[in-house]
Amino acid sequence: MKQFDNELHSMVLSEDGSYTAYSKEYGEHYHSTKDGALYESLIKHVEPAFKIKKNQDEINILDICFGLGFNTLATIYYHKKNSLTSKLNIYSPELDASLVKSLINFTYPKEFDELKDVIFELANSRLYSDKNLYVEIFLGDAREYVRGLAPQKFDIVYQDAFSPSSNPALWTKEYFGDIKKCIKNDGVLTTYSIALATRLALYENGFNIYINSGEGFRDATVASLCELNEFLEVDMKHKISCNPDAKPLRD
Ligand SMILES: C[S@@+](CC[C@H](N)C(=O)[O-])C[C@H]1O[C@@H](n2cnc3c(N)ncnc32)[C@H](O)[C@@H]1O
Repeated sequence: MKQFDNELHSMVLSEDGSYTAYSKEYGEHYHSTKDGALYESLIKHVEPAFKIKKNQDEINILDICFGLGFNTLATIYYHKKNSLTSKLNIYSPELDASLVKSLINFTYPKEFDELKDVIFELANSRLYSDKNLYVEIFLGDAREYVRGLAPQKFDIVYQDAFSPSSNPALWTKEYFGDIKKCIKNDGVLTTYSIALATRLALYENGFNIYINSGEGFRDATVASLCELNEFLEVDMKHKISCNPDAKPLRD
């Protein structure tokens, strides 16, 4: 096995057999070790997003935050596996430059074997481009990055920061206000967070809130500025009336 561990990160086996990492800085795993790193990425982000977005010529994806790159890589894997033909453009901010460099030494699941070139290019130059795929990693603060994005650019937003308690800046009402500006009206946001505060931060920005539930994984959230028929809607008015003191996080 390659040597990935250092003073900030260690590699951890998750329950689907794929490795994730533990961040000593944030005191959290990069993925749910119970759901499994690859399975979580596919089931909570890629599959729900592509359930809605599959028949477009071009799909723009904002992957918050790159981390070990599972959401980006699982998207490319899913796309190839299902012979989808859209051109994918993936944009992903990530604060930790040394993590991105070290991904060359991360042990990825065999499903990513055919993505070795992509992983190599991203770890070395933070850019991969071919006829059907463009991936760009921005090294820096996601808040700053999101503020500079073109309006209504994104079809899909993967909201996959560390938890609201350890990285609150990426879960506030103001942050989701900036996400609202750069997501298309019929775009879809996916996140593992089911916290009422997260859902309120989205709802108060005009997002409709849906449950992503299924066999073998804990519930997750899907949100969109338009109505989605593919998921069960969360009755936010009812949730608010049952929890009158609940508030979204604020800057
Ligand atoms: C839960 S991990 C992301 C997991 C990733 N989506 C994956 O599939 O591997 C959270 C990441 O957010 C990064 N991060 C924390 N604060 C950030 C910020 N303000 N801007 C950009 N990245 C940030 C951390 O360095 C970490 O890599």
